[in-house]
Parts: sequence; C-alpha cells; structure tokens
Amino acid sequence: MDRIFSGVQPSGNLTLGNYLGAIRNWVKLQNDYECIFCVVDMHAITVWQDPESLRRATREVAAGMLASGVDPKRNIIFNQSSVSGHAELGWIFNCVARLGWLNRMTQFKEKAGKHKENASCGLYVYPNLMAADILLYKATHVPVGDDQKQHLELARDIAQKFNNDFGKEVFPLPDPMIFGTATRVMSLRDGTKKMSKSDPSEYSRIGMTDDADTIALKIRKAKTDPQPVPETVEACEDRAEAKNLMNIYAALSDLELKDVCAQYGGQSFADFKKALTEVAVDKLSPISQEMQRYMDDPAQVDAILHDGSERARALAEPVLKEVKEVVGFLQP
Ligand code: TYM
Repeated sequence: MDRIFSGVQPSGNLTLGNYLGAIRNWVKLQNDYECIFCVVDMHAITVWQDPESLRRATREVAAGMLASGVDPKRNIIFNQSSVSGHAELGWIFNCVARLGWLNRMTQFKEKAGKHKENASCGLYVYPNLMAADILLYKATHVPVGDDQKQHLELARDIAQKFNNDFGKEVFPLPDPMIFGTATRVMSLRDGTKKMSKSDPSEYSRIGMTDDADTIALKIRKAKTDPQPVPETVEACEDRAEAKNLMNIYAALSDLELKDVCAQYGGQSFADFKKALTEVAVDKLSPISQEMQRYMDDPAQVDAILHDGSERARALAEPVLKEVKEVVGFLQP
C-alpha cells in the first residue's frame, strides 16, 4: 500500500487553513493509505517557542487531528522529536542538498524577513528536515496545502540526488497531494496573504478552537469590497477577499466555487457573511468541543503520541540502517 506522511507545526493555534488545506483531507485519505501524521515540534523551534507553550501547542495539534477524525489506531500520530531518526537523516540531507537550492526557498525569505543574518540556521535548513520527515518512512504521497509545494519539490530533488550520488534507488520520489477547494485559504484581513498561525493579527484567521461568537465577529470584520457577491467564477478573479470567503464557504459545505456563485451571486456580503458564519460554526464547533475534551485529558493525548512514536520508530529503523549502510557509516 502507498504510504502517506504529513505534518503540522505546533507553532500557535491551529487555523481553518490547516484544517481545510490539510487535516480534513487526511481524514478522507486514511481509508486508502497507510498514514503517518506528525506534530513537527523540531520544525517549530526554527523560530523561538516558549517551552511551556510548545508543549501545549504540541498536544493541541494532536488534539486537532484526533478531533477532526484522524484515527490513531489505523494511522500513526506522533511528535517528531520523539523519533531521533528525523534529526539523523536531516543531517545527512544537509550534506546532500545544495546551498543554491535552499537559497531559492521563498518561505525562508518570507519568514527570515529583512534581517536574514538574525534568522536561525535551523530556519534555513528547514526544508532538508522536512525531506527527512517524509523519506525516513519512504513515504510515496504527501497531502499538504499549496504553500508546501516548493518544499516538496526540494524533497524530490534531495531523494533523487541521494539515489544518484550513492547509485542505489533508496528513496521513492514523493508525490504532493494538493486537492480540494481550499488549498490556499487566505487571511481575512488581506486576500493576498495566506491565513497563518503566526500572523500578528488575530482577526486574520479563524482558529479551530474559536467559539461561535469569535467566529461570527471575525467573519463580520473580514475585509470585502463594496460590490455584491460575484455571480460567476470569472467575476471572482480580481476580488481576492470575496473569492476567499466564498472558497471557505465552498470548502466547508463540500461545494464548488461555481455553486456558491450560483447560490449567493448578487446578494450583499452582509447576508453572505451570516450564511458563512452559520456553516463555519456548524462545522467547527463539534471539532473544537472534542479538542477541548482531549485538552482536558493531556495524559490521553500523551499516551496516543507515545504509542505513535513507538510505531513510527519501528518503521524508521530499517530505513535509517539502510541509509547508513549506503552512506558508509560503520554500524555496531
Ligand atoms: P504548517 O504547520 O504551516 O501547516 C500544516 C498544513 O496546513 C496547510 N496550511 C494551509 N492550507 C491551506 N491554506 C492555508 N492558509 C494553510 N496554512 C497551512 C499546510 O500546507 C500544511 O499542509 N512545513 C510544514 C510542516 C511539515 C511537513 C513535513 C508537511 C514539516 N515536515 C513533512 C508535510 C510533510 C508546515 O510548516 O506546515
């Protein structure tokens, strides 16, 4: 069976973007693939994380996966730092990837900002660790949002160069799986920016644990333009904020953008926002209640992560052994 690997950083509260762009798709894929889902805590520390907040966010991301319907028995759910093979293979990939490849990574440029010399070295080599996450399990498919496309291309380049350098087909070239109507959920304040856990404005995102009043307020305050809801998909093109809200509605209701245009085209955004609030609260509140139940029982979450880590380690061990053999490391 084909194997899936995907991950979420515990670097803040989960957003609707994480849910619609990734976690919700995982729930759909879990019947057809062998799946490994990871809370990538080692990636999170590439920017400063308060240790207590990191622990909490790690449990919260796991709780978000569980509450969304990812089954911890059928799949592996674990936190990255508990399987040391990620760090080991990450180092080997630091020696395979080329500086020129990393220099092209747009996410590093965005995250490092103007003062690149102040960014951590980890932030720079982040894509190499991400390649290690996937290839440590020889995963063949990686379901992610659109923003991870470039990182996945790099993972394929690393797999290919490793195989070429050592003359052995050790790694598969993993295929990105980017699908659904919400591969790129945008900020509620700026339709040209991605909705992100790390945006300084709370009003830019809907959190998976936001209550109904907060969701209603954020949607009411979401930026739009003075025109009514567009009636065709083409008419959405130059209206980033309008299109984003309509895409969110489509994704939450399992519709296509064209259906939303047909249903709401010509109406005022005030009315459309009410409908959007209703569907968002409807979909998210059962999940956030279930997340809260997990957060009230951290021992249960820790036990699931512990079990997942043991199963992940068992899968990683033979791959790491093979890699070390191929590289020429003496092994006891
Ligand atoms: P992260 O933590 O930023 O996001 C987790 C997942 O959510 C998706 N996503 C979005 N999708 C649509 N619209 C948005 N606004 C949005 N924001 C986030 C992301 O595309 C992602 O699928 N580098 C990864 C984590 C990672 C990983 C991996 C993923 C580390 N190792 C190996 C796959 C495989 C990241 O920062 O995701």
